[in-house]
Order: sequence, then C-alpha cells, then structure tokens
Amino acid sequence: MSEKIIIFDTTLRDGEQSPGASLNVFEKVEIAHQLANLNVDVIEAGFPVSSQAQFDAVQQIADSVDAIITGLARSIDNDIKAAGEALMNAPRKRIHIFIGTSDIHITGKFGDSRYGYNLKEKQSTIMQMACEAVTYAKSFTDDIEFSPEDAGRTDIGFLSEITEAVIEAGATTINIPDTTGYTIPQEFSKKIGEIKQRVSNIDQAVISVHCHNDLGLAVANSLSAISVGARQIECTINGIGERAGNASLEEIVMALKVRSDYWDYYTDINTEQLYNTSQMVTGFTGMLIQPNKAIVGENAFAHESGIHQDGVLKKRDTYEIMTPASVGITQNKIVLGRHSGRHGLTSRLEMLGYILSDEQMDNIYHRFLELADKKKEVFDEDLRILMGDDSKNQNGYFTLEYLHVNIGTSVIPTASVRIAFDGQIVEESSTGDGPVAACIRAIKRSINLKDSLTMEHYQVRSVTGGKDAQGEVTVRLRSETGTYTGRGISTDTIEASVLAYLQALNNYVYVQDVGTLFENISAA
Ligand code: KIV
Ligand code: ZN
Repeated sequence: MSEKIIIFDTTLRDGEQSPGASLNVFEKVEIAHQLANLNVDVIEAGFPVSSQAQFDAVQQIADSVDAIITGLARSIDNDIKAAGEALMNAPRKRIHIFIGTSDIHITGKFGDSRYGYNLKEKQSTIMQMACEAVTYAKSFTDDIEFSPEDAGRTDIGFLSEITEAVIEAGATTINIPDTTGYTIPQEFSKKIGEIKQRVSNIDQAVISVHCHNDLGLAVANSLSAISVGARQIECTINGIGERAGNASLEEIVMALKVRSDYWDYYTDINTEQLYNTSQMVTGFTGMLIQPNKAIVGENAFAHESGIHQDGVLKKRDTYEIMTPASVGITQNKIVLGRHSGRHGLTSRLEMLGYILSDEQMDNIYHRFLELADKKKEVFDEDLRILMGDDSKNQNGYFTLEYLHVNIGTSVIPTASVRIAFDGQIVEESSTGDGPVAACIRAIKRSINLKDSLTMEHYQVRSVTGGKDAQGEVTVRLRSETGTYTGRGISTDTIEASVLAYLQALNNYVYVQDVGTLFENISAA
C-alpha cells in the first residue's frame, strides 16, 4: 500500500538563512499562508530566540496558519522557552531542537573544558544536554523533533546512542541532517538503514532527513533515504538555503509524483500551487532562479529545437514527463486592464492562490487601478509582484511623501525627497553620480542616520516585457547587526529604487532600538 511522505518546509527558517534572502514579518506570514495552500504538512517558521522579528514572525504564523508550525531551538532552555512562547497559540505545534554531534562540531563548538576533557566526556555531556532539552520542550508540546546536527559526518555509534536516548526522553521525530551536504546517496541511505537497525526504539519516532546541496546531491540524498525508511523530508521552495541551499521541495514532490510507477509513496502537496509558491518566494527574497531550474524554471517546459517542438506538437509525452498544468503553469493569458472590475481581479488573484479579506482587496484594487493607469496591460506577473509589494503600504517607520529628480545629459543629477517618520516630515536635496545615488544621499541626509549602513546589493529587473513594464528593485543593506532587504516596484525604476531603499531601512529599524539610531531624530 502506498505510504505518505511528510513534507516539512523550512523555507522560512533554513531558506531565509540564504545570504541576502532576509524576509520581513509581513512577507513571512504571506509565504506561510501560501505554503498552507500548497498543503505542506509542517512549516518551520523561524528561530524564535534569534531576534524579535523572528519571534514575531513565528508567533503570527502560529496564530493564523493551518499546518503544524514549528520553531527551531538549540538545546538551551532559553531557546526552547522562546520557541514554546512563540508557538503558544498554534493549534498544532512542534519544537525542533538541535545540537552538533559530529566530532568536528563537538571539538569545534564545545571545546571548552566545562563540556568535558576529551571527546568521550564531551559526547556524554551533549547527550545529556539533548535529553534535558527534549524533556523541557515536552512541557510546551508533545510534538518534539530532534536533530543531531552534522549527522552526515557523525560517527554511527554515537549517532545511534543519542538517537535512542532522545526518543527515550520523548522525541517524536528524529531528523538526520546532512548539514554540510557532504554525503553521497548510497552512503546516506546506508546510514539511515543502520540507524533503523541499531536504535531499538526507532519505531516510536518518525525518521526525517534534511539535506544540503553543497555537492548538488540534496534531492538525490533525500530520495535515497525514503527507500530505507525515512518518512519526512525537509526541504525549501526553489531549494534556497544556507550556502548552496537545501533540497528543493518542488523537485522532491514531483519526483515522487511523476515516478509513482517506481516508488509507492505519495505526498499531500497540491502540486498545482508549486509555480505560484515558487514565484512568491522569488519575489519576496529577490533570489531569482536559473531558467533551467527543474519544475519551476522559465525553460522547464520550453522546447527549443525543431525536432523537440515537432515531437511535442504531435504527441506531448515524446519530450514531456509532466504537464506544465500539473505544477500550476497555465496557458491562460487573460490580461487585465483599467476597465477590469473588482470581480475580475478577485477571481484572477484567487487563481493565482491569493485569498484576500475585503479590506485587503480594497487596498489591492486601488493599487491595481493605479498600475493599470500607467500600464495598458496587467499580466499575472504584475499581479504577483503587486501582491508581494508592501513597500507602498505606507505603514513602515519611514514613508515617501514626495520625490523629484532632475537628470539630463548635461546636468548633475539632483534629487529632492520628502520623508515622513516619527510624526514629522523632513525634506532634503542632494546631487549624486546618478539619479539613484542622489536620491539615497538625500534620504540619508533627511533622516540623519548614525549607524553605518552599506548597500551590499542593488538589482533591477523588469517584471514583464514591453516599454511600460514594471521595474522591480531589490536592495540589500548591511550593518553590524545583519542584512536588511527591501523591494520596490514601479513603472519608474528610480521611484522603485527609493521605495526599495526605504523598505530596507524600515526592516532595519524594526529590529533596532530606534532612539539610538539617529543623531537628531526630531531636528527637522
Ligand atoms: O542543516 C542543519 O543541520 C540544520 C539543522 C538545524 C536541522 O539546519
Ligand atoms: Zn539546514
């Protein structure tokens, strides 16, 4: 009989750890709702103890999204408490605890002699910390997942011992992470098989795997583990994640579905939502996927050569192993415009996976009409971008009141901005090497920023084709406290750049103590 594979999505936790992919609370909640539409079983919403923003995101997702919601915690009481509190209102909650178990992690992270004087003693301390952590986490929920970090490089003897001990302490899922993406499929499946043999109480827990893609083997390793008993796979949309990323959710799910003749496993994923979800994650993170990316890349269903085109036209399955529709890529080319009504917009958005309240719809309809005034035809890509764009929601700390830019072939670019913040309105002007540089300098002057924020990344992309296409700008700022991403959308790329910059600043302000950031916050 066909067996279910649990899909554990960690886009909002491990995925968000991709360099530069930082998401704000609003974006995380939106993605979590879409993951629920996709019907994932478990959503890892973040690492609550790591920052206030992480805590808030996990809490808001726990309060409003229908799935098992989990938060990550080290094997430390404070981490577990933060996770337990953030998850408090989730009808179905899980705490995910981890601790490093490979010799490299133990000697590298637990070198201090208070953990023991040699490897054996340190292993014993780590096992005790893990069991105590599981026992404490049990006071918040019965659903506890434990991960021996760097299991891929952990000695099988210690791995089996700690696994048995944490199950005894109450862990209900044992996740085996190939943290560094080091293993190869035969080796990884052998390890899972050995754990099954050596751990006497393994039948009391679900075996999960969590593979990284450093050698491009994350999906292959994950699939290899299923054949020896893994029943949960941890993965991310578009395969985003630390370094080379995590196993890609869409690839795993479609491999199981397309090759159901080979494997007798299924997932509950609503595959027709894969493309929408992928697009949403791309939009919010600013991490574009390569055109040849399996399942959701721009070329995944494109047939270029004459022989292939001819074959597909005669009989689709000559060169296609799945249909674009099965992953949610439709041929439907309905275009909306300024005469489209609210009803038309609502049903189009529903087809794209967005279910909105009346209040949200009022806001989006208003912004749709603004866009349709500037742009003759509004495509699905425009709507996705509009949905993902909160830079104009005007509820951040800084909002743009006015922007004027003077450019030309023989003038020095000059920008004037009027910014509202903290109950005041400040106006400033500046020149710059180019119009965007002039705008940013004028903004910095107007808010008198103390902290040194450097722009680490600036990217412009056209959302659709045509001369009236919207430009999407992604900006990443770096400070001593971390990186902050902002996105801005407009048919005018200079305005989009300013909106993106202000959104990145708003994300930055969200996690700082605002009072200490500015020289003269009330001098205007
Ligand atoms: O890669 C890893 O080991 C992790 C753990 C926290 C599960 O992300
Ligand atoms: Zn990971």
